[in-house]
Amino acid sequence: MQTDTEKATTTTPNKLGFDTLVTKKVEVRGPVSPLCTPIYQTSTFVLKDTRHGASLCSHQELKQDESPYLYSRWSNPTNDVLERLITTLEGGYSTYVTSSGMAAISTVLLSFLKAGDHVIITNNVYGGTHEFATDILSRYGVEVSWVDQNDVANYRNAIKPNTKLMYGETPANPTMVLLDLQAFGALGKERGILTVVDSTFASPYNQRPIEFGVDVVVHSATKYYGGHSDLIAGAIIVANETLDKSLAHQFRLFGGALAPNIAFLLHRGIKTLALRMERHNNNALQLARYLESHPKIKKVHYPGLESHPQHELAKKQMRGFGGMIGMEIHGGLEAGRYLVENLKVFTLAVSLGGVESLIEQASTMTHGMLTAKDREKAGIPDGFLRLSVGCEDVNDLIQDLETTLSEINI
Ligand SMILES: Cc1ncc(COP(=O)(O)O)c(C=O)c1O
Repeated sequence: MQTDTEKATTTTPNKLGFDTLVTKKVEVRGPVSPLCTPIYQTSTFVLKDTRHGASLCSHQELKQDESPYLYSRWSNPTNDVLERLITTLEGGYSTYVTSSGMAAISTVLLSFLKAGDHVIITNNVYGGTHEFATDILSRYGVEVSWVDQNDVANYRNAIKPNTKLMYGETPANPTMVLLDLQAFGALGKERGILTVVDSTFASPYNQRPIEFGVDVVVHSATKYYGGHSDLIAGAIIVANETLDKSLAHQFRLFGGALAPNIAFLLHRGIKTLALRMERHNNNALQLARYLESHPKIKKVHYPGLESHPQHELAKKQMRGFGGMIGMEIHGGLEAGRYLVENLKVFTLAVSLGGVESLIEQASTMTHGMLTAKDREKAGIPDGFLRLSVGCEDVNDLIQDLETTLSEINI
């Protein structure tokens, strides 16, 4: 027999137990038409009947009134809307958003390579990608060759009968070395080798590799896509249906799907991508020109400068030159340390692509995991600093550098 307390907590007017009621779905009062795509914060989706569930599980055709969503690791409406937007921005066939840029990169490499294959990767590459290729791919029996991407002939010369994939990153982190996208895409097509490009530093506002014939584009959407330094995400964009078919299954199994609440934030960030990029481009170009004329700066690496060895290529394949600058300071490690630790408007932090300006010492931080020899090969000497130029008033940024550089005795 129930006690009074038990009755009060378990009996409800519509006969269902309180414990059941708290778990029940409450329908939205419709019709609703929100301007912004809501966050579909759900792991799973209600199925109409077993036939519907079976069709989704076995990728069979659905009836017109059947929802295409089964489980959020596979697909989710918030992510789906974001993916379709990115596909349009990149001029691709389809997009998969991932839980980080590294999830995008590892998913692509592990999906399109197998034991016995050979991959050619630029040695001008993000440190994490370098580590992944060195530590992980080798464990799975994939042979890796490293080349300098500044000349596509270096890829051609490294091709072997078992080469399955060629990988570039343009502009490269942090050296700002470019890859000729058209020549790279054409070489891949000529030799039947998949071409993959990390386009993080440019964003689709400045560069769309698929339009130049590249097969797969990856992004750390943590950076310019998100734009506010408040999320970690990635994106894989493929150029055609065949590639989409080979990736879809593996994307689900590797499990790097993006959480829908982060997909919402990412979508929100993209709405100001054009405005932000225009400001990043203008601020960085002005700052690069200022730094180039400064006697304490040895070298500035920025594709928008006439002194950049690939400036003509940059003009051909980029609409703007982005917010990232590499620079070498006279006085090496110690002068670099003083600068990054004493700037007031720039913040000492890794990552990039947000509205706030950041600076970091690449040789000891983001690329510190490379051996000295690999760093030298990648063109990152001790005094190498990486600036992510934000959206502030450019005069404040210049003044910040001017003041702190004047305090350094070289
Ligand atoms: C060019 C580039 N690609 C990929 C990544 C990895 O992205 P995430 O940190 O979002 O995994 C980074 C991170 O800094 C990067 O700079």
